[in-house]
Amino acid sequence: MRYFIQTWGCQMNFHDSEKLAGILEEQGCVPAGRLPDADVLLLNTCSIREKAAEKVFSHLGALRPLREQRPDLIIGLCGCVAQQEGERLFRRSDLVDFILGPRAIESLPALLREAAQRRRPRLADLAVRDDSIRFDGARARRAVGPRAYLTIMEGCNKTCTYCIVPTTRGREVSKPVSQVLEEAAALEQAGFVEIELLGQNVNAYRDGSFHLDGLLRLLQPLEGIKRLRFTTSHPAHLSTAIIRAMAECPSVCHALHLPSQSGSDAVLERMRRGYTRRRYLDRIETLRRWIPDLGLSTDIIVGYPGESRAEFEESLSLLREVEFDQVYSFLYSPRPGTDAAQEQESLSFAEKNARLAELQAMQQEIQLRRNRLHVGSEADVLVDGVSRMGGKLKGRTGANRVVNFEGEESWIGSTVQVRITAAGPNSLEARRIRVAGS
Ligand code: 5AD
Ligand code: SF4
Repeated sequence: MRYFIQTWGCQMNFHDSEKLAGILEEQGCVPAGRLPDADVLLLNTCSIREKAAEKVFSHLGALRPLREQRPDLIIGLCGCVAQQEGERLFRRSDLVDFILGPRAIESLPALLREAAQRRRPRLADLAVRDDSIRFDGARARRAVGPRAYLTIMEGCNKTCTYCIVPTTRGREVSKPVSQVLEEAAALEQAGFVEIELLGQNVNAYRDGSFHLDGLLRLLQPLEGIKRLRFTTSHPAHLSTAIIRAMAECPSVCHALHLPSQSGSDAVLERMRRGYTRRRYLDRIETLRRWIPDLGLSTDIIVGYPGESRAEFEESLSLLREVEFDQVYSFLYSPRPGTDAAQEQESLSFAEKNARLAELQAMQQEIQLRRNRLHVGSEADVLVDGVSRMGGKLKGRTGANRVVNFEGEESWIGSTVQVRITAAGPNSLEARRIRVAGS
């Protein structure tokens, strides 16, 4: 059987698709190359915002002609929409043959076998299994490139009022240290030079008395792993011990994504984020004290229920005060079953959009100004591919800045020393100094 997987959402979900591909290949399936050639189609979905979830349904609608041509095509719906919507999905679309939750991916072979035997079987496994974390990452069929994802924890025990993730991904579970070390060593053996450790609340990683800082230190002897990152962090769980480990471990990249969500204490409290603006700024101060060249990014939600103009302006002032290198900003989107979805929304869509545009325009100026400070300096860039515009090579610095420069495709996977020649708000242009080897 030939398979095709379409993925939406975060790194976790992207890596889950790599795991699903690995499982399918263990069953003798091969990649289809293009969707019309597939015998099995998996849609690995995201439900973080309404738009992301709705995409799945419009996509399913567009698949109808293909399904009519190929009545034996098996369609499985995986990921967070599967977990959130459950068997209701069968009522919303008659194209779905089975649904599979993110913590039940090991059931894929069984569901597939049954689906192949029966026409339109409507099967589901939405169990939230604690042992899902024990899935051996070596079984994943990873995307080609210098960078590999390694799941170290799954689930989220927080209760942020707007967020669907605790519902879709279940309670926190951590992978045993010994297994993380084995998987990381296997990735080094396989030639990966960068590992990104994944977890919904990765700072809460814990195996017995071991925490994330200890794990980062234990991974240092892997000399082939030149770059170690971890995501996603939470301001209330980012301990000074983790910050020190970031500063002291040579392979840990000087980059951090630390979602703030809002700059207003009142909004943070209504969101039940578990920290104040002061505490968030204290973490930034400590980070920058230990790691002066840190690349810092954040997430901001605009238009949370009841967000006043003054509260929104506190988010603007947070961005001005911190000067992030990158900000991912989102319109608040009510998610079914979350506490915030009970709240009355105070702003029209147009007002929310105007706030978002204002915030983004301000942040673009900050990014341009910050990026310009790098012009003339040197950087080490791990080349990960060819940029869409202009056919240049593209890669990232350790601080996670995107850099484009002229070079040969054979350098993909190598680290190249460059000099920054120009800056835009979202990326840097550079000239090669020398290729440092892979
Ligand atoms: N509406 C808008 N944005 C959301 N996020 C999470 N839930 C919602 C929601 N209901 C954003 C947060 C989070 C990022 C992954 O998505 O900023 O950090
Ligand atoms: Fe989307 Fe969140 Fe699920 Fe990732 S964990 S796929 S961002 S809903």
